[in-house]
Amino acid sequence: MSPPASYKRLFVAKISALGLICCVLTFYMYFESPPSVCQIASPLPEDKDYPNEKPIVLLWYWPVGVKFDFNDCSKYFNIDSCVLTDDRSLYSKSKGVIFYNKDINLLNMPQEPRPSFQKWIWYNVESPTNTWKIPGVENQFNLTLSYKRDSDIMARFELTVREPELKDDFTLPKKDKLVCWIVSNHNPNTGTGTREQYYRELSQHIKIDLFGTAHAGFLSLEEYYPTVGSCKFYLSFENSLHRDYIMEKFNGPLVAGTVPVVLGPPRENYEEFFPPDAFIHINDFPDAKSLADYLLFLDKNDEEYMRYFEWREFYAVTPHLLGTANEFTQPICLACDYMSRDSGYSAVNDVYRWFFSEVLF
Ligand SMILES: *[C@@H]1O[C@H](CO)[C@@H](O)[C@H](O)[C@H]1NC(C)=O
Repeated sequence: MSPPASYKRLFVAKISALGLICCVLTFYMYFESPPSVCQIASPLPEDKDYPNEKPIVLLWYWPVGVKFDFNDCSKYFNIDSCVLTDDRSLYSKSKGVIFYNKDINLLNMPQEPRPSFQKWIWYNVESPTNTWKIPGVENQFNLTLSYKRDSDIMARFELTVREPELKDDFTLPKKDKLVCWIVSNHNPNTGTGTREQYYRELSQHIKIDLFGTAHAGFLSLEEYYPTVGSCKFYLSFENSLHRDYIMEKFNGPLVAGTVPVVLGPPRENYEEFFPPDAFIHINDFPDAKSLADYLLFLDKNDEEYMRYFEWREFYAVTPHLLGTANEFTQPICLACDYMSRDSGYSAVNDVYRWFFSEVLF
């Protein structure tokens, strides 16, 4: 079976993207050390003090106090190309220093002068709705690390193009629920009003099984993938709607073998990252009732339902690490890897102007 045209377009788009940002993206797509074909950047200048040694990357704050084992970078992502540390006494030797936006406190920034070779990395996992400006630091950073596509270091979950010889051994998990939603945050201050409202409307037309602390039954980490897999559809509802803000709640059902029903940025934005028929977008329907009718139709029509899994022939999906303790691991590992290849001057003019400027939907 040859891939439909839309897949081909996506494939071609991915290949062109690869050409442009080979190293970063290839690394992302395969979750491993950059292959040698990526050495297209100008040769790394040798650090005078530490020739041929791995660069030190200093995590200035543990993001919101959450700690993880730096060895997880090699364990889960095959990244071992820098020395990650939280030891501030290594500041003057650090090639990169990571600052988690939420933790930035002007009284608790480095006091020593910044070495000329050092880059400050602005790190954020939240959407603009849940990001606060810290006045006075906007011009101090050299690199950005976030889910946004135009970040210097982009940290997100992506499909990888399947090697043709690697067959997909996917079998649809056994389903005993129709629509599921795991939700732990329903604080309207974080932008969740839209999704709560849509959930309420949808639940009047179709049965939705709820999990998570916001509503009902708490799920352990071990139960996450099996539970999502046991549902035909999963509500991948983002807390706030922003360009590129498509998070792990979308990756989860793809991994588990469930069709994500998405509420987030417009369909076109999803299609920049994922095949068009890997998901159902709420905007494809005039209202929640029409969506519910369509899900009920798919429930009765296996052939139509199974079309939502055809992309697996061409793409592979990577499980993400679960749990709060692992929320910050992947991006920091990616920053580590980036710094082992980084060279040259860079500066972010106004990090907040960049972060908050986006096409509004
Ligand atoms: C990092 O950014 C600062 C502030 O813009 C700048 O002064 C410094 O030269 C930059 N350093 C590098 C290595 O790019």
